[in-house]
Amino acid sequence: MQAEEIERLIKISKERPLMPETYVPWHETPAADDLYLPEVLTSLQGLPVYDTLTQQQKIDLGRHEVVQVLYSYGWGEALFCVFMSKFILDLPPDSPEHRFLIREIIEEYRHQEMFAQTITLLQGEPLKQTPMHRFSGQVTTKYLPADYLFMGSLSVELITDLYGNHGRRAPEIYSVLRKVFELHNIEEGRHIHFTKGLLEQYTAKAGYIKKTLYSLVILMNIYFVRTMYVRKEIYERIGIPNPDAVYKEATKNFRNKFTQNCLGLIIEFVDSWGGFNTATRWAWRLLLKAKV
Ligand SMILES: [Fe+2]
Ligand SMILES: [Fe+2]
Repeated sequence: MQAEEIERLIKISKERPLMPETYVPWHETPAADDLYLPEVLTSLQGLPVYDTLTQQQKIDLGRHEVVQVLYSYGWGEALFCVFMSKFILDLPPDSPEHRFLIREIIEEYRHQEMFAQTITLLQGEPLKQTPMHRFSGQVTTKYLPADYLFMGSLSVELITDLYGNHGRRAPEIYSVLRKVFELHNIEEGRHIHFTKGLLEQYTAKAGYIKKTLYSLVILMNIYFVRTMYVRKEIYERIGIPNPDAVYKEATKNFRNKFTQNCLGLIIEFVDSWGGFNTATRWAWRLLLKAKV
């Protein structure tokens, strides 16, 4: 990416910062029929059991699931900030990359605070990550080389971008959440633009093995995001009978919906530098049921 392009991104970030304190109408209370997550993004919509729920149960399902989404975003961004803070130590402090990443870190910390405030406002009781999620998050942040971490972060940002687009444009969603999604969507758009530019340097000179590894890192990141918020405890909380069976169905249902609604841009990106080959295709098909 050209230096002038990075300077342009820095300028926008400085001149048009989106402050959660003023951008989000925190004082607005939800209307009785407001939803918290677009129905298409909930784990149960599309299953027969969804039609047996009362309106209140549907609202509560979205509220608990959006709390998991916000909690997972915040956690993922906190890990990414740890990595970025170390990464910039090796960059010249006056380089455009260094200065953009400082802006990104500032914005990511604001996002984390905004997510936490939203969870509190929704009286959310976030369920902790599973030990497997926690372990892999911490280990990869500590040991993976920078290019792999940027690959992983970009793939997660593309998913959050998609959620943001769904959330900010849905009139049935509680106004506070709509604005939270909107703010995040706008700022992440710039991060995605920068990271894609940065990664071009890596993919341009990557050979077969590197491309295979990049592809698998992205796949694992997406798989982790997908499995983060379908939780049996939520079905128990909202009083759905037989939560074990519902959890099993929901996992399958959400996997299919996720593949249909969320994978498009990721597949396009991985395909753009040849990340699908005989060593990776089977895994994408197996874990994400992706048509690659
Ligand atoms: Fe963010
Ligand atoms: Fe970001």
